[in-house]
Amino acid sequence: MTRSHPLPDLVVVGGGVIGLAVTREGARRGLRVSLVERGEPGMEATWASAGMLSPIGEVTSAGPFLDLALRSFDGYPPWVRSVEEESGVEVEYRECGKLQVATSDEAAARLKARRSLAEAHGLATDWLAPREVRELEPSVASSVQGGLLLHRDHRVDGRSLARALRASAARAGAEILAGREAREILWNGTRVSGVALADGSALACGSVLLAAGAWSGRLAGLPHPIPVRPVRGQMLALMSRDVTLRRVVESDNVYLVPRDDGRVLVGATVEEAGFVKACTVAGVGQLLTSALALCPALAGAEILESWSGLRPGTPDGLPILGPSPEAEGLVVATGHFRNGILLAPATARAVGELLTEGRSALLAPEFSPSRFAREAARTERR
Ligand code: GLY
Repeated sequence: MTRSHPLPDLVVVGGGVIGLAVTREGARRGLRVSLVERGEPGMEATWASAGMLSPIGEVTSAGPFLDLALRSFDGYPPWVRSVEEESGVEVEYRECGKLQVATSDEAAARLKARRSLAEAHGLATDWLAPREVRELEPSVASSVQGGLLLHRDHRVDGRSLARALRASAARAGAEILAGREAREILWNGTRVSGVALADGSALACGSVLLAAGAWSGRLAGLPHPIPVRPVRGQMLALMSRDVTLRRVVESDNVYLVPRDDGRVLVGATVEEAGFVKACTVAGVGQLLTSALALCPALAGAEILESWSGLRPGTPDGLPILGPSPEAEGLVVATGHFRNGILLAPATARAVGELLTEGRSALLAPEFSPSRFAREAARTERR
């Protein structure tokens, strides 16, 4: 095996936003890090994402997930500033807020419960009457029954963020191995010794971070199941002369995310379709119908692009984040489902602290991979 770099301390498997963020963090903390990505980094779920930073928008209850989401959200401004400075890539981080509109009494009740949750966590909100909704966002349908304005709900461009993280990680000394597929984790007893690649080569290392998103459970040599499944999200990009949104606007069925260049992103379906990344007539139809119901003036918009991505879903909806209980040197950071972009800074920090300080307070026991190792052991005993 010929290598130009010294042996890495850490091999990161997976080049999505999580793998890239941890690679950068590890390199900045002085680790020798190599990232292995079978395609180009940032081209799967990260590329597909709308980039909403929505700590309260995607949860219904308090708990460790919301705590992690808020920690990550609070850390976003300085994190993104450093990534931009280090890389020279602007990532369109905008503190724009989000308007969640109610189209029924039930939806209004749900949003009011969300408002209480937000306020209990110190997030400023306003409840808007229909007239106020339209004053704020004139293109929203006149039939809405009200809206929840979440001031602390922002957006970023996931595609630029991946480019920026890659450049920043490389500048910090990390090695990015694009087009190289990890096949198997290698062991010396119960200690990680490296990663075998599909081209027949191997990278020896002291630690492995598994961050392969929806594909994480497919790596050979895992000491216990990593039950991540792909959850497809179809998306559209529209360009409209008639609609200018100032903030993210969302109904029960769809979200609309404005971009600085005038595009409006429309998302997203939530589908169990295996590893089939496709846009379907039904999926695109559903997005268009819901977008028009929310914002009728989009009727004349041009459809610029459609795409889909595979979110990494887990059985309990929580990320799988922390050291493997059955193996020294294996750390898992996957299953971020709808929130990979939001959770990237906190995940990077948690893994960085774990690898260089031996522990991280961000790693709640609820996220531990051990919950699935225990389950597998119980099933085996039956
Ligand atoms: N975070 C939005 C989505 O996954 O569709």
